[in-house]
This record gives sequence, structure tokens and C-alpha cells, in this order.
Amino acid sequence: MMSGNSNYHEQLERELAAFEGKEDAALLNYGYQGMVSIIDVLCNRHDVIVYDAESHACIIDGLRLHPGHRYVYKHNDMADFEKQLQRATTLIEKQDAGGILVITEGVFGMAGDQGRLKEICDFKDRYEFRLLVDDAHGFGTLGKTGAGAGEEQGVQDKIDLYFSTFAKSMASIGAFVAGEKNIIDYIRYNIRSQIFAKSLPMPVVIGNLKRLELLRTQPQMKEKLWENAIKLQRGLTQRGFDIGKTDSVVTPVYMKGGVEEATAMVMDLRENYKIFCSIVVYPVIPKGNIIYRLIPTAVHTDDDIELTLQAFSETKKKLDAGIYKADHIPDMAEVTGKRFEYMLDKPKNK
Ligand SMILES: Cc1ncc(COP(=O)(O)O)c(C=O)c1O
Repeated sequence: MMSGNSNYHEQLERELAAFEGKEDAALLNYGYQGMVSIIDVLCNRHDVIVYDAESHACIIDGLRLHPGHRYVYKHNDMADFEKQLQRATTLIEKQDAGGILVITEGVFGMAGDQGRLKEICDFKDRYEFRLLVDDAHGFGTLGKTGAGAGEEQGVQDKIDLYFSTFAKSMASIGAFVAGEKNIIDYIRYNIRSQIFAKSLPMPVVIGNLKRLELLRTQPQMKEKLWENAIKLQRGLTQRGFDIGKTDSVVTPVYMKGGVEEATAMVMDLRENYKIFCSIVVYPVIPKGNIIYRLIPTAVHTDDDIELTLQAFSETKKKLDAGIYKADHIPDMAEVTGKRFEYMLDKPKNK
């Protein structure tokens, strides 16, 4: 609102709203900051927030700004969801003020499982609440047109506020929130971290317009992405890997091991097999567990997938043999050549 807005920003907002089947959309500079601020601007001390226990950190940080009550439900557990919704409803009735905002994700980024949007929307027949969905990983990858998890589950029009970052399927920067015009206008003119900040840079906006056009006009990219994701996920399962309950392209691989082992293994994968994946370790998940998070893309080839499967089989064998433990790092350096020397500078077992 202060500076930097342009016709291109407004064009991108209109095109995003149309893509999501919503009346209007507002751009945000980053997904993280945007979500924190959306929660802040929407809710006052009378409002009650009901949210999924595995919500992304940006949702949790938004909740920290909330001066009213919040009730968490067990991840994707609809019996517990209803229990918390009942508690929230009772509180609202007692206060005789405020409303309920339910927050969940379209796809949970760690495990790759979709949020239960359809079931949550079914509760709208019996309870009064509004639904805000963070669909960072569903946007562009799920639903017939790529509109996301709401479209995939047939409830896009029941989502009051649809939010996504451009940081996943668009491989860019920035984010947006889409919904009814009056709510988006309210957000646009009151959201603190946008009105007291410069807007998205023009080159990024123009790049995002082009990326949205690609999502819209090249559905074969989404099909190819899914083809690759299915090949990768089937291949991992056939080789005995545990990929949990993903029903998105996010592909987690669950293993056991220490933080140092995970670090050495991911470095081995990157430097010696040319495969990049991110790792999730303690303290984000319990000690002794590792999640390797693979994100297939539309431009990966069958050879890339085969190489990944082979690399995972080989490195898993090394992990199980204890080769990535700190004591064995000298052996690792010998086995793989060059890339583990940096670890030797540290005293062992520290
Ligand atoms: C579910 C979810 N919400 C929000 C964000 C934050 O988005 P951004 O990277 O645009 O700040 C992420 C990660 O990027 C995410 O995975």
C-alpha cells in the first residue's frame, strides 16, 4: 500500500484469483511472513482458532500473535477436530462475541499427506467457522487444473481463504491469499507486514505472471511431474524403503540414524552421487530418526530416477553398516575419494 504496487501486481492478483476460482487475491512478499500476518489481521481477542497439530512453523508463529484462544487437534484426526470445534463453539457462545477460524494445510510438507479438507468442509453443515488453507505444496501440483488440494478434493469453493507460496511449484519468491473480495480487501488494507513494507519487486512479479501462465497452459508439466513422482515412489517402495503415507509429490524416506550420520549420508548423496535432497533430523523429529525429503520435478528423466533409486540403495547399505558414523569418516574419505576431509578437522565423536 505504501509503495511499489503496479498494474503488473494487480494483473497477477486477478490471474491468481481466477486460477483459484476466487473473487480476489492479494500478493504477499513471502509465504512465511504473509501467513503470520494473515492470522494476525484476521483474528481479534474474541476469535478462536482451531488448527492441525502438524501445522507449518509460519502458522504456529501467527498463532503466537493471537491474543484469543486456540485449540489444537491431533494431526488429520477428525474425531479430535470435532471435539476442538465443539469447545471453540461453546466458548464463542459463552462470550457472545467472535468467530472460529480453522487452519490446516492442503499438503503437509514433511510427510506429504493431504489435509482432510473434504471432511473438514463437511462440518460446515453443523458448525459455524471459516477455513484458511495453506496449500504451499498443493498449488500447481494437485487438482485437474493445478488449483490445488481444494480442487483435488472437490471443495475449493468451501475454502474461505486459500493461501500458497510461489516457492514450490513456481520455484520463485512471494505468496498470495485468495478469497471473497471483501475479505481480501480487508486483508489488503490492514495486513501490517505488507502495508508497512515495499511490495514484491517488479521482476519477480513479471516472472510469476509467466510461471502462472506456464501452470495454466502446460498441463503436460503437471502430468510429467506426477509420472515422475509415481515412478520414484513405487521404485522406493519396491526396494523396501519406507515412504510413509504421502499422497502428494512430496516424497519422504524414513530411516534410522544419528544427526551426524544423516549429514554424512546426504553429503555422500550430493557430492558423490550428484543427488540433492534435504534432511530432517533432531530436534525437528525425535532423536535417532531421519527423513530424507525428495522432491521430484517435471524435468527429471527416467535415468535421474533410476540413479536416485540406486544411490539410495547404496547409501542405505552404508548407513546400516555404520559407515557414516563419526568414527568411520576416515574410511568414508578413503572409499569416496575427496569430499569428507572437512569432517576430519573436528575432534572425533564430538
Ligand atoms: C506449508 C508452508 N507454508 C509456508 C511456507 C513459507 O513460504 P515462503 O518460503 O514463501 O516464505 C512454506 C515453505 O516455504 C511451507 O512449506
